[in-house]
Amino acid sequence: MNIDLIRKRFADRFGGEGELYTSPGRINLIGEHTDYNGGFVFPGAIDKGMVAEIRPNGTDRVRAVAVDLDDYAEFGLGEQDAPSQGWARYIFGVCREIQKRGGRIAGFDAAFSGDVPLGAGMSSSAALESTFANALDELFSLGIDRFELARIGQATEHNYCGVNCGIMDQFASVFGKAGHLMRLDCRSMEFRYFPFDPEAHGYRLVLVDSAVKHELVDSPYNKRRESCERVVEVIRRRHPEVCYLRDADMDMLREAAPDISEEDMRRARFVIGETQRVLDVCDALERGDYATVGERMYQTHEGLSKDYEVSCEELDHLNDIARRCGVTGSRIMGGGFGGCTINLVKKELYDDFVSTAKRQFAERWGHEPKIYDVVISDGARKLA
Ligand code: GLA
Repeated sequence: MNIDLIRKRFADRFGGEGELYTSPGRINLIGEHTDYNGGFVFPGAIDKGMVAEIRPNGTDRVRAVAVDLDDYAEFGLGEQDAPSQGWARYIFGVCREIQKRGGRIAGFDAAFSGDVPLGAGMSSSAALESTFANALDELFSLGIDRFELARIGQATEHNYCGVNCGIMDQFASVFGKAGHLMRLDCRSMEFRYFPFDPEAHGYRLVLVDSAVKHELVDSPYNKRRESCERVVEVIRRRHPEVCYLRDADMDMLREAAPDISEEDMRRARFVIGETQRVLDVCDALERGDYATVGERMYQTHEGLSKDYEVSCEELDHLNDIARRCGVTGSRIMGGGFGGCTINLVKKELYDDFVSTAKRQFAERWGHEPKIYDVVISDGARKLA
């Protein structure tokens, strides 16, 4: 991360220095599209994130420099002051959500930059939200609880960016801990850190980024969520105790089948299976049973591709290549419709897999995928 450049842009525009804050992007080993269904997720923060230099400016206006985009925005803190630039809406949304919760903030100057690849499914937007939520909490001495910091980021997505996301990305960005994944129960919000050191077991974790992002016309992410909610509605007629798909089982789903569409049926089937897969993977990890971890990852890919339909040809191709190379586990990661696969690969197969993936993918799609090694790192924090 180029902190000198952030400092320079800040000084050029505003003069002097502010405080530096950072928050990471995330990976998710397993548990996709389960968060908004009250299920389990198993993410970890990564060594790529956002860094912002921030300083209160004694006015009621926010002035922000997006270093990577070479762009600038200035806006007030009232609901009517929403900026037009997409990136600035994340900052504006965080400010508004803090204010809605009674947090008293005032204007500030900021310059920020990030190294989370955009559109790769590694939550660059959550990193941005958490960076600002955490920084404003500290700079204005608000005393916001850390779960609430994550919820502020999530509400920003809902209310200012049009994505009805779950809590996973913001949670991971705030709570990340080096060398650990976190199993979060998105119904109770209880979580547990699991030490995660694949290298010690002879494995490496690698992300292969298709570098494609399919247009999300009609907001398919929100549509998936609506499918799940429709199914819950139907199941609840007989089982009023069911509040989320997490609370349902396959028998309940079969019972509800006559009243739901075939498509919604497949969506729900995936989610119910996925919740169990997270638990299986956590158990397997504790036993050092990476073969089972990998098997579940392939099952998740299959479900995301066929039942949940959030994959695409490029990602299915990467998954096929992984299988053929003998990779232990591989699956699409994040919301889908492009982005990365996450791969658990034996150390001795790593070089062959990476070079084969690059070559075969490029032969078919005309460009090489990008490769990112993963280092599990700490969450939102101030930089010394
Ligand atoms: C996106 C959302 C998350 C989660 C994942 C899918 O990253 O922001 O809340 O739903 O997709 O698991």
